[in-house]
Amino acid sequence: MSWHVGGPTDEVDLDVLLSGTIAWPGADRVRAIFAAARGGPSRQLVVGLGGKLVGYGHCLTAPLSEGGRAGVHVFVAPSARGQGIGRSLWQQLLAVARSAAVAGVQTVADVEDRRSCSIAAAHGLIEGPVRRESMLELALLSDTAIEQAVRPVSDAGVSLVLFDSGSEEAWRRLYEGFLPLHGSTPDGVAGREPPPYETWRSGFSEPWQVLVARRGKTTVGMTMAFVRKDLASRVVTFFTGVAAAERGKGIATALKAEHARLMRDAGWQHLSTWNMEGNLPILAANSKLGFVTITRAVPLTFDFEASDR
Ligand SMILES: CC(C)(COP(=O)(O)OP(=O)(O)OC[C@H]1O[C@@H](n2cnc3c(N)ncnc32)[C@H](O)[C@@H]1OP(=O)(O)O)[C@@H](O)C(=O)NCCC(=O)NCCS
Repeated sequence: MSWHVGGPTDEVDLDVLLSGTIAWPGADRVRAIFAAARGGPSRQLVVGLGGKLVGYGHCLTAPLSEGGRAGVHVFVAPSARGQGIGRSLWQQLLAVARSAAVAGVQTVADVEDRRSCSIAAAHGLIEGPVRRESMLELALLSDTAIEQAVRPVSDAGVSLVLFDSGSEEAWRRLYEGFLPLHGSTPDGVAGREPPPYETWRSGFSEPWQVLVARRGKTTVGMTMAFVRKDLASRVVTFFTGVAAAERGKGIATALKAEHARLMRDAGWQHLSTWNMEGNLPILAANSKLGFVTITRAVPLTFDFEASDR
């Protein structure tokens, strides 16, 4: 049977194909990201075989990943592997990236998935620093642990409040505050671009999603989470950041503890998050609250020769 490659349609349920695969942020987020990238070279491809969706790939050239690379995602359903579908997707996506004159491409694989890692190595991709996905079972988070995290911070004059604003102007100010914090993550330092305002903003429709830390009128930290349509019981923390001058005072731990309490009380069961293995402060905050590692992922990069660009 022959397979064919095309662009995705709204009917295509990418979450069914891709849910549970490494670093898939959910079809909703991907749709918003590609809507913002419309008009540029970014591409999404789906592969059909015998009327079934068996493969997906994308190349995102804005915003750029670390090192000025395009973000690439390639997935082939286990039942359709070994027929050259992955190779075809890879070649087409690489051509998209080349046409965009980026430094190279970045994708990601499960550290345990040695088959995918060795295919990547055979295609010239190089492994980078590992990041991990951690999960907290919210029912296991005790009120005492929350109190221990929150009390010292509130005693020190920092309040934790939901960012529940109807004002677009206030959201823009929050985004302005988010940008330097994003820039100081290990990924940001390595050149990962932040999501554009519209993509970032489109992820927040419920008042409980963003919790900020304030000293007086100044926002000194923030944590923000998304719902995943494909993971019904789970909320995903997308970002936590604290102003440089306020770090090391327990504010991130307090923000995460209080946010977890709000989610637990609202009936959510699991909270997950991705972090670089070298980002010790956030891993320490997570482990204090009882997060456990569920996935370890390795970024795979492929850089073009300067003459190729
Ligand atoms: C990561 C970040 C949010 C931590 O904020 P913070 O308010 O300083 O964190 P806390 O004060 O709650 O400290 C958390 C833990 O990290 C530990 N820690 C702080 N700095 C550390 C360091 N350099 N190395 C190892 N551990 C460190 C603290 O001791 C604390 O652990 P403990 O409670 O067991 O003592 C902050 O550094 C930041 O904004 N970084 C940039 C954004 C980022 O990388 N966010 C995470 C990815 S989304």
